[in-house]
Amino acid sequence: MIDSKPQTPDLTTRLGSLTLKNPLIAASGVFGYGLELAEFCPPAQLGAVICKGISLEPWPGNPGPRAVEAAGGLVNAIGLENMGVEAFLRQALPPLKATQAVVGANVIGHELADYARLARILADSPVDFLELNISCPNLAQGGLSFGSDPDLAARLTEAAVNPAGPKPVWVKLPPLVTDIALLAKKVANAGAAAISLINTVPALVINARTQRAVLGNLTGGLSGPPIKPLALRQTFLCAQAVKTPIVGMGGILRAEDVVEFILAGATATQIATAILVDPRSPLTILTDLRTWLTREKVVSLASLRGALKGANNP
Ligand SMILES: Cc1cc2nc3c(=O)[nH]c(=O)nc-3n(C[C@H](O)[C@H](O)[C@H](O)COP(=O)(O)O)c2cc1C
Repeated sequence: MIDSKPQTPDLTTRLGSLTLKNPLIAASGVFGYGLELAEFCPPAQLGAVICKGISLEPWPGNPGPRAVEAAGGLVNAIGLENMGVEAFLRQALPPLKATQAVVGANVIGHELADYARLARILADSPVDFLELNISCPNLAQGGLSFGSDPDLAARLTEAAVNPAGPKPVWVKLPPLVTDIALLAKKVANAGAAAISLINTVPALVINARTQRAVLGNLTGGLSGPPIKPLALRQTFLCAQAVKTPIVGMGGILRAEDVVEFILAGATATQIATAILVDPRSPLTILTDLRTWLTREKVVSLASLRGALKGANNP
Protein backbone atom coordinates (compact mmCIF):
# COMPACT_ATOMS: atom_id res chain seq x y z
CA MET A 1 0.00 0.00 0.00
CA ILE A 2 1.26 3.49 -0.81
CA ASP A 3 1.72 5.67 2.25
CA SER A 4 -0.23 8.83 1.46
CA LYS A 5 0.64 10.57 4.75
CA PRO A 6 2.12 14.02 4.03
CA GLN A 7 5.86 14.22 4.71
CA THR A 8 6.84 16.20 7.80
CA PRO A 9 8.72 19.28 6.58
CA ASP A 10 12.40 19.37 7.45
CA LEU A 11 13.16 22.50 9.48
CA THR A 12 16.77 21.65 10.31
CA THR A 13 18.81 24.77 9.63
CA ARG A 14 22.54 24.83 8.92
CA LEU A 15 24.39 28.06 9.57
CA GLY A 16 28.05 27.39 8.87
CA SER A 17 29.31 25.07 11.60
CA LEU A 18 26.07 25.34 13.61
CA THR A 19 23.07 23.08 13.08
CA LEU A 20 19.81 24.37 14.53
CA LYS A 21 16.72 22.21 14.95
CA ASN A 22 14.60 24.92 13.37
CA PRO A 23 15.06 28.43 11.92
CA LEU A 24 13.32 30.33 14.74
CA ILE A 25 15.64 32.22 17.05
CA ALA A 26 14.64 34.42 19.99
CA ALA A 27 16.27 37.78 19.21
CA SER A 28 18.45 39.71 21.59
CA GLY A 29 16.75 42.04 24.05
CA VAL A 30 13.35 40.40 24.48
CA PHE A 31 14.15 37.00 25.95
CA GLY A 32 16.26 38.22 28.88
CA TYR A 33 19.03 35.77 29.62
CA GLY A 34 16.96 32.91 28.22
CA LEU A 35 15.16 31.56 31.26
CA GLU A 36 12.79 34.39 32.21
CA LEU A 37 10.21 33.17 29.67
CA ALA A 38 11.04 29.47 29.79
CA GLU A 39 7.69 28.65 31.38
CA PHE A 40 5.96 29.89 28.21
CA CYS A 41 8.62 29.10 25.63
CA PRO A 42 11.25 26.49 26.60
CA PRO A 43 14.49 27.75 25.01
CA ALA A 44 15.58 24.32 23.79
CA GLN A 45 12.51 24.12 21.53
CA LEU A 46 13.78 27.05 19.48
CA GLY A 47 16.58 26.99 16.95
CA ALA A 48 18.56 29.19 19.34
CA VAL A 49 18.17 31.98 21.86
CA ILE A 50 20.26 35.13 21.82
CA CYS A 51 20.77 36.75 25.20
CA LYS A 52 20.40 40.48 25.72
CA GLY A 53 23.44 42.55 24.79
CA ILE A 54 26.44 41.87 27.07
CA SER A 55 29.14 44.44 27.83
CA LEU A 56 32.42 44.17 29.73
CA GLU A 57 30.97 45.96 32.76
CA PRO A 58 27.27 46.25 33.75
CA TRP A 59 25.42 49.05 31.92
CA PRO A 60 22.59 50.87 33.74
CA GLY A 61 20.41 51.63 30.69
CA ASN A 62 18.29 54.72 29.98
CA PRO A 63 15.85 56.61 32.20
CA GLY A 64 12.18 55.75 31.69
CA PRO A 65 9.79 55.70 29.99
CA ARG A 66 11.75 53.14 27.97
CA ALA A 67 9.16 51.76 25.55
CA VAL A 68 5.94 52.88 23.91
CA GLU A 69 3.63 51.48 21.24
CA ALA A 70 3.63 53.55 18.06
CA ALA A 71 2.52 53.16 14.46
CA GLY A 72 1.49 49.54 14.96
CA GLY A 73 4.88 48.66 16.44
CA LEU A 74 7.05 49.43 19.44
CA VAL A 75 9.61 52.16 20.03
CA ASN A 76 12.13 51.32 22.73
CA ALA A 77 15.12 53.00 24.30
CA ILE A 78 16.17 50.48 26.93
CA GLY A 79 19.78 51.62 26.60
CA LEU A 80 21.27 48.11 26.56
CA GLU A 81 20.98 47.64 30.32
CA ASN A 82 22.79 44.44 31.27
CA MET A 83 24.59 42.64 34.08
CA GLY A 84 28.04 42.60 32.44
CA VAL A 85 29.94 39.61 31.12
CA GLU A 86 31.27 38.31 34.42
CA ALA A 87 27.80 37.98 36.02
CA PHE A 88 26.46 36.62 32.72
CA LEU A 89 28.98 33.78 32.71
CA ARG A 90 28.63 33.06 36.42
CA GLN A 91 24.85 33.41 36.98
CA ALA A 92 22.89 33.47 33.75
CA LEU A 93 24.62 31.16 31.31
CA PRO A 94 25.01 27.88 33.29
CA PRO A 95 21.26 27.32 33.93
CA LEU A 96 20.44 28.33 30.35
CA LYS A 97 22.98 25.90 28.86
CA ALA A 98 21.61 23.21 31.19
CA THR A 99 18.36 23.35 29.18
CA GLN A 100 20.33 22.14 26.09
CA ALA A 101 19.41 25.33 24.22
CA VAL A 102 21.73 26.68 21.53
CA VAL A 103 22.82 30.02 22.97
CA GLY A 104 24.14 33.15 21.28
CA ALA A 105 25.73 36.01 23.19
CA ASN A 106 24.92 39.45 21.78
CA VAL A 107 28.03 41.57 22.29
CA ILE A 108 28.08 45.34 22.85
CA GLY A 109 30.88 47.81 23.45
CA HIS A 110 32.00 51.41 23.08
CA GLU A 111 35.36 50.71 21.38
CA LEU A 112 36.89 48.05 19.13
CA ALA A 113 38.96 46.83 22.07
CA ASP A 114 35.77 46.10 24.07
CA TYR A 115 34.55 43.73 21.34
CA ALA A 116 37.95 42.01 21.15
CA ARG A 117 38.11 41.53 24.92
CA LEU A 118 34.54 40.22 25.10
CA ALA A 119 35.26 37.80 22.24
CA ARG A 120 38.33 36.48 24.08
CA ILE A 121 36.32 36.01 27.29
CA LEU A 122 33.40 34.32 25.50
CA ALA A 123 35.74 32.04 23.50
CA ASP A 124 36.34 30.06 26.69
CA SER A 125 32.66 29.95 27.68
CA PRO A 126 29.86 27.50 26.78
CA VAL A 127 28.09 29.99 24.45
CA ASP A 128 27.57 28.51 20.98
CA PHE A 129 28.09 31.71 19.01
CA LEU A 130 28.56 35.46 19.32
CA GLU A 131 26.45 38.15 17.68
CA LEU A 132 28.12 41.58 17.47
CA ASN A 133 25.64 44.43 17.84
CA ILE A 134 27.33 47.11 15.73
CA SER A 135 24.59 49.69 16.29
CA CYS A 136 26.30 50.81 19.51
CA PRO A 137 27.72 54.33 19.69
CA ASN A 138 31.47 54.38 19.04
CA LEU A 139 32.90 56.75 21.63
CA ALA A 140 36.14 57.23 19.65
CA GLN A 141 34.07 58.74 16.80
CA GLY A 142 31.79 61.05 18.77
CA GLY A 143 29.08 58.44 19.28
CA LEU A 144 28.46 57.54 15.63
CA SER A 145 27.51 53.86 15.44
CA PHE A 146 30.14 51.30 14.32
CA GLY A 147 27.70 50.07 11.67
CA SER A 148 27.48 53.44 9.94
CA ASP A 149 31.01 53.01 8.52
CA PRO A 150 31.55 49.77 6.52
CA ASP A 151 35.36 49.86 6.97
CA LEU A 152 35.05 50.37 10.70
CA ALA A 153 32.47 47.56 10.86
CA ALA A 154 34.97 45.30 9.06
CA ARG A 155 37.73 46.22 11.52
CA LEU A 156 35.39 45.53 14.42
CA THR A 157 34.51 42.12 12.95
CA GLU A 158 38.19 41.25 12.48
CA ALA A 159 38.94 42.41 16.01
CA ALA A 160 36.41 39.89 17.38
CA VAL A 161 36.84 36.92 15.01
CA ASN A 162 40.40 35.95 16.01
CA PRO A 163 39.98 36.09 19.79
CA ALA A 164 36.62 34.27 19.49
CA GLY A 165 38.59 31.18 18.41
CA PRO A 166 36.25 28.42 17.26
CA LYS A 167 33.04 30.29 18.13
CA PRO A 168 31.15 31.55 15.08
CA VAL A 169 30.86 35.35 15.08
CA TRP A 170 27.65 36.77 13.63
CA VAL A 171 27.40 40.48 12.87
CA LYS A 172 24.06 42.24 13.33
CA LEU A 173 23.51 45.13 10.94
CA PRO A 174 21.64 48.38 11.52
CA PRO A 175 18.86 49.05 9.00
CA LEU A 176 19.62 52.56 7.78
CA VAL A 177 22.96 52.78 6.05
CA THR A 178 23.87 54.21 2.66
CA ASP A 179 24.70 50.83 1.11
CA ILE A 180 23.65 47.77 3.14
CA ALA A 181 25.06 45.37 0.53
CA LEU A 182 28.49 46.98 0.86
CA LEU A 183 28.29 46.72 4.65
CA ALA A 184 27.36 43.02 4.34
CA LYS A 185 30.28 42.38 1.95
CA LYS A 186 32.77 44.10 4.25
CA VAL A 187 31.76 42.16 7.37
CA ALA A 188 31.54 38.89 5.40
CA ASN A 189 35.08 39.39 4.07
CA ALA A 190 36.22 40.21 7.60
CA GLY A 191 35.13 36.76 8.76
CA ALA A 192 31.49 36.99 9.87
CA ALA A 193 30.01 33.47 10.07
CA ALA A 194 26.50 34.87 9.58
CA ILE A 195 24.94 38.29 9.09
CA SER A 196 21.84 39.12 11.08
CA LEU A 197 19.58 42.05 10.24
CA ILE A 198 17.83 44.32 10.95
CA ASN A 199 18.26 46.04 14.26
CA THR A 200 15.58 48.58 15.26
CA VAL A 201 14.92 51.65 13.08
CA PRO A 202 15.76 55.03 14.65
CA ALA A 203 12.53 56.74 15.70
CA LEU A 204 11.00 59.58 17.73
CA VAL A 205 7.58 59.57 19.41
CA ILE A 206 6.08 62.93 20.39
CA ASN A 207 3.08 63.78 22.55
CA ALA A 208 1.52 66.82 20.87
CA ARG A 209 -0.49 67.86 23.93
CA THR A 210 2.44 67.90 26.36
CA GLN A 211 4.80 68.94 23.57
CA ARG A 212 7.26 66.42 24.97
CA ALA A 213 9.09 63.38 23.72
CA VAL A 214 7.47 60.24 25.11
CA LEU A 215 10.68 58.32 25.84
CA GLY A 216 13.11 59.28 28.57
CA ASN A 217 15.96 59.04 26.05
CA LEU A 218 14.08 61.28 23.55
CA THR A 219 14.73 58.94 20.60
CA GLY A 220 14.48 55.17 20.38
CA GLY A 221 14.25 52.28 17.94
CA LEU A 222 11.13 51.16 16.08
CA SER A 223 10.42 47.42 15.82
CA GLY A 224 7.54 45.13 14.91
CA PRO A 225 5.25 44.97 11.86
CA PRO A 226 5.92 48.52 10.52
CA ILE A 227 9.57 47.64 9.81
CA LYS A 228 8.95 44.32 8.01
CA PRO A 229 9.00 45.63 4.41
CA LEU A 230 12.28 47.48 5.11
CA ALA A 231 13.74 44.37 6.77
CA LEU A 232 12.75 42.17 3.83
CA ARG A 233 14.32 44.57 1.35
CA GLN A 234 17.59 44.78 3.32
CA THR A 235 17.63 40.99 3.74
CA PHE A 236 17.15 40.55 -0.01
CA LEU A 237 19.96 43.00 -0.88
CA CYS A 238 22.40 41.36 1.55
CA ALA A 239 21.52 37.83 0.40
CA GLN A 240 22.22 38.90 -3.19
CA ALA A 241 25.56 40.41 -2.19
CA VAL A 242 27.18 37.66 -0.06
CA LYS A 243 27.33 33.88 0.29
CA THR A 244 27.49 34.16 4.10
CA PRO A 245 24.21 32.97 5.66
CA ILE A 246 21.70 35.70 6.45
CA VAL A 247 19.53 35.68 9.57
CA GLY A 248 16.56 37.95 8.88
CA MET A 249 14.30 39.73 11.32
CA GLY A 250 11.95 42.66 11.65
CA GLY A 251 8.21 42.39 12.24
CA ILE A 252 7.88 38.61 12.26
CA LEU A 253 4.53 37.74 13.84
CA ARG A 254 3.32 34.77 11.80
CA ALA A 255 4.60 31.71 9.96
CA GLU A 256 4.12 33.42 6.58
CA ASP A 257 6.45 36.21 7.71
CA VAL A 258 9.17 33.59 8.26
CA VAL A 259 8.55 32.18 4.77
CA GLU A 260 8.84 35.70 3.30
CA PHE A 261 12.29 36.19 4.90
CA ILE A 262 13.44 32.80 3.58
CA LEU A 263 12.17 33.69 0.07
CA ALA A 264 14.14 36.96 0.32
CA GLY A 265 17.27 34.90 0.95
CA ALA A 266 17.49 34.37 4.72
CA THR A 267 18.64 31.02 6.10
CA ALA A 268 17.10 31.59 9.54
CA THR A 269 15.01 34.22 11.28
CA GLN A 270 14.78 35.98 14.63
CA ILE A 271 11.72 37.11 16.55
CA ALA A 272 11.73 40.04 18.97
CA THR A 273 8.65 42.26 19.40
CA ALA A 274 6.19 39.36 18.90
CA ILE A 275 7.68 37.75 22.03
CA LEU A 276 6.83 40.87 24.04
CA VAL A 277 3.23 40.63 22.80
CA ASP A 278 2.98 36.89 23.53
CA PRO A 279 5.97 34.93 24.89
CA ARG A 280 4.51 31.77 23.37
CA SER A 281 4.55 33.25 19.87
CA PRO A 282 7.75 31.48 18.65
CA LEU A 283 6.17 28.09 19.40
CA THR A 284 2.88 29.10 17.73
CA ILE A 285 4.84 30.29 14.69
CA LEU A 286 6.77 27.00 14.65
CA THR A 287 3.59 24.90 14.67
CA ASP A 288 2.00 27.13 12.01
CA LEU A 289 5.15 26.97 9.89
CA ARG A 290 4.99 23.14 9.84
CA THR A 291 1.30 23.31 8.92
CA TRP A 292 1.92 25.90 6.20
CA LEU A 293 4.77 23.93 4.62
CA THR A 294 2.79 20.68 4.74
CA ARG A 295 -0.23 22.35 3.14
CA GLU A 296 1.93 23.91 0.42
CA LYS A 297 3.74 20.57 -0.06
CA VAL A 298 7.15 22.09 0.68
CA VAL A 299 9.36 19.33 2.12
CA SER A 300 12.21 21.54 3.28
CA LEU A 301 12.30 25.20 4.13
CA ALA A 302 15.77 25.42 2.60
CA SER A 303 14.24 24.75 -0.83
CA LEU A 304 12.50 28.15 -0.59
CA ARG A 305 15.66 30.08 0.25
CA GLY A 306 16.15 32.98 -2.14
CA ALA A 307 13.35 31.66 -4.40
CA LEU A 308 11.67 35.08 -4.62
CA LYS A 309 10.18 35.84 -8.03
CA GLY A 310 9.28 39.24 -9.44
CA ALA A 311 5.57 40.14 -9.50
CA ASN A 312 5.28 39.53 -13.23
CA ASN A 313 7.66 36.59 -13.66
CA PRO A 314 6.21 33.13 -14.27
C1 LIG B 1 12.89 45.86 23.97
C2 LIG B 1 13.94 45.55 22.92
C3 LIG B 1 15.26 45.38 23.30
C4 LIG B 1 16.25 45.09 22.35
N1 LIG B 1 17.55 44.90 22.75
C5 LIG B 1 18.49 44.53 21.83
C6 LIG B 1 19.84 44.23 22.23
O1 LIG B 1 20.18 44.22 23.43
N2 LIG B 1 20.74 43.92 21.25
C7 LIG B 1 20.37 43.87 19.92
O2 LIG B 1 21.23 43.57 19.06
N3 LIG B 1 19.11 44.12 19.53
C8 LIG B 1 18.15 44.43 20.44
N4 LIG B 1 16.87 44.67 20.04
C9 LIG B 1 16.51 44.57 18.60
C10 LIG B 1 15.86 43.23 18.27
O3 LIG B 1 16.72 42.15 18.58
C11 LIG B 1 15.44 43.19 16.77
O4 LIG B 1 16.60 43.40 15.98
C12 LIG B 1 14.41 44.24 16.40
O5 LIG B 1 13.50 44.45 17.45
C13 LIG B 1 13.63 43.88 15.12
O6 LIG B 1 12.89 42.69 15.27
P1 LIG B 1 11.30 42.67 15.63
O7 LIG B 1 10.61 43.54 14.63
O8 LIG B 1 10.88 41.22 15.57
O9 LIG B 1 11.16 43.24 17.00
C14 LIG B 1 15.87 44.97 20.97
C15 LIG B 1 14.52 45.12 20.61
C16 LIG B 1 13.56 45.41 21.55
C17 LIG B 1 12.11 45.56 21.11
